[in-house]
Amino acid sequence: MVTTIFAEMSALAVTTGSVNLGQGFPDTDGPPEVAQAAADAILRGRGNQYPPLPGIPELRHAVAGHQRRWYGLEFDPDSEVLVTAGATEAIAAALLALIEPGDEVIAFEPYYDSYAACIALAGGQRVPVTLRAPDFRPDLDALRAAVTPRTRLILVNSPHNPTGSVFTRAELTAIAELARERDLLVIQDEVYEHMVYTGEHVPIISLPGMRDRTVSISSAGKTFSFTGWKVGWVTASAELVAAVRAVKQFLTFVSAGPFQYAVAEALQMPDAYFTGISEDLRGKRDLLCGGLAQAGFTVYPPDGTYFVTTDISPFGDGDGVEFCRNLPHQAGVVAIPNAVFYDDPEAGRMQVRFAFCKRPEVLQDALNRLDKLQR
Ligand SMILES: Cc1ncc(COP(=O)(O)O)c(C=O)c1O
Repeated sequence: MVTTIFAEMSALAVTTGSVNLGQGFPDTDGPPEVAQAAADAILRGRGNQYPPLPGIPELRHAVAGHQRRWYGLEFDPDSEVLVTAGATEAIAAALLALIEPGDEVIAFEPYYDSYAACIALAGGQRVPVTLRAPDFRPDLDALRAAVTPRTRLILVNSPHNPTGSVFTRAELTAIAELARERDLLVIQDEVYEHMVYTGEHVPIISLPGMRDRTVSISSAGKTFSFTGWKVGWVTASAELVAAVRAVKQFLTFVSAGPFQYAVAEALQMPDAYFTGISEDLRGKRDLLCGGLAQAGFTVYPPDGTYFVTTDISPFGDGDGVEFCRNLPHQAGVVAIPNAVFYDDPEAGRMQVRFAFCKRPEVLQDALNRLDKLQR
């Protein structure tokens, strides 16, 4: 459903000439010096042939350096870092490596679309714990109640797509305590780690007792605005990395050779680059949230990511899917219905997601169009 709705909405954006705030990719490329590094790598013959299975050493060292610089975490670049084809491959390889058929995987819905597919591919059972409007906090009692003797792991995505919820240190500590108590693994998808507007990003792997039971996943796509390069990585204990690597070997073996050199350089950019990401996006978030509220949406301002979830109840009884199908024709804007990210058909029925990783003039154009909507 998710894949088809993205395809349907992207096609509608083209045929109706709409402003596309559906899919989450920036409309400007990342730093020119990073693009230049990729071009140089290709022309100098670096990475044009198969790179090493775990990723080039330069990138593994840079990932380890990033984890040290931002979180004070130490990883051995040789045995505890693995480069993947985006976070998407890391998620797939980790789930396929760590789940046996029949194992239960607890994930917070609404989910990023690959989670349900990969849990199913691994023969696992997904067990949803629902994040509910207006604040989308994890319900820790529901989480505890969801654990059974068959539970193998908890899949955490913080900062969370599509709700923009950033789990607090206290919430993550409670999840970590539960994982330790019930001997569970945790996978944390942290691709929005540098896009936090309220609070802080806490890697659950940094919490007591979690170093050897967490697979931490991130990628260059969001942080450096090169989503097409698909360079991601895993940081975890040597044992967990070895398990993920064994699956990755037969998914893609390796990918993105020259881009790995460029991302190795990107990860070493000054602190100001990384802090600047949130500063830039905070302004865009405020612009879009303010405008959507003025246009009549109930807005749930996100603490992180580059998505905002809204409720469309003020516009009538139709659900989010119907609303999004009509919106390109009515207003010339494309958005995504959150219902496709939920198992629970009611929870996200009236929610619609907009992306704000676009130039301010594009966001303003979308808002001018939405202002004409009838309530
Ligand atoms: C939560 C989440 N995880 C993973 C990804 C995919 O990351 P990548 O492009 O590095 O595969 C996305 C992209 O939208 C995402 O939102």
